[in-house]
Amino acid sequence: MNILGIETSCDETAAALVTDGFTVRSSVIASQIAAHAGFGGVVPEIAAREHLKAIDHVVAKALHDAGTELAAVDAIAVTHLPGLVPALLVGVAYAKGLAWRTGHPLLGVNHVIAHIYGALMETPDGLAGATSFPMVALVVSGGHTALVMLAADGTASVVGNTIDDAAGEAFDKAAKLLDLGYPGGPVIDRLAKEGNPAAVDFPRPLVRRPGHPVADENRFNFSFSGVKTALLYHVQGRKLTDTELRDVAASYQAAVVDTLVAKTLDAAVARRARSVVLCGGVACNRALREGMTRASAAAGCRMLLAPPRLCTDNAAMVAGLAYHQFRRHNVAGLDLQVSARLGASLGRLPFIG
Ligand code: KG4
Ligand code: ZN
Repeated sequence: MNILGIETSCDETAAALVTDGFTVRSSVIASQIAAHAGFGGVVPEIAAREHLKAIDHVVAKALHDAGTELAAVDAIAVTHLPGLVPALLVGVAYAKGLAWRTGHPLLGVNHVIAHIYGALMETPDGLAGATSFPMVALVVSGGHTALVMLAADGTASVVGNTIDDAAGEAFDKAAKLLDLGYPGGPVIDRLAKEGNPAAVDFPRPLVRRPGHPVADENRFNFSFSGVKTALLYHVQGRKLTDTELRDVAASYQAAVVDTLVAKTLDAAVARRARSVVLCGGVACNRALREGMTRASAAAGCRMLLAPPRLCTDNAAMVAGLAYHQFRRHNVAGLDLQVSARLGASLGRLPFIG
């Protein structure tokens, strides 16, 4: 079964053709980084306009690269939540148009679940049998920071979220403050490689440790605004040398990574997870990949880690997930709505159980 996936929830216009949920036959991504770079973050209205300009070409290229045509695909899938509403609207309206014109079924995909699926697409054995479950997934991107528990029967629930900035935003805003351009994650990652992560003692917000109790309701929640403020105070009015800049980047990254790893592992141990999934754009971060892999191994959990091309926004994860929805008859109508929000209950995930 061939599904055409479309993704426009943030600043990537993407389309992909995936066969039977796992075989990626094409994956095209048009990035809008240049359009947003001057603003230090994604401007929703600009994102929508850029999607509009790119979508026709991106979809045509995805079909062409897969050696197929629209009439020959079996269904059309599109991200409809959560994300930037003006951006989502472009992809959803476009997909509805294609579905109406061709008569193909339309599938509405949850972007956060698609990120989790993206981390599992290349390790299908991670989905098979009960040995991988319960599973805890950390979804970290420019717009999301969610800790999701997945049970062997496919039930998924969000156990933690950010109470202010998303993890990717923490990187992007820090880079803006340090005048490093957008997106911030890759630049900080690169600078941090040559810096000393212990040079500056940035806070690890909401992380439980001796002398730092955390209220039960925030045990699995994240907060990054305090680290960002600490960075602001640290660099304010100073001209950093290259060495200081690398040390600041490494120390800041260490604070964010330590926080993400500590919270995920706390959830994994508390909920007796057997595997840990790391996904979303921030999952490209070298220190996070290493730190999470090490901590998961120490806790006796299997680590499921997507290659970077399946971590950042793409439509292969959308078309892949949609296959499982289709098998479960979870098909949308032309009244499919968009939403900025994720919601606490994700229901039953179609690719498990
Ligand atoms: O998943 P994604 O492509 O888009 C959203 O759904 O938001 O994630 C983009 C985010 C940006 O905030 C970017 O700075 C961050 O992922 N990112 C990274 C790295 N590569 C991308 N953050 C830290 N380290 C990286 N290497
Ligand atoms: Zn994303």
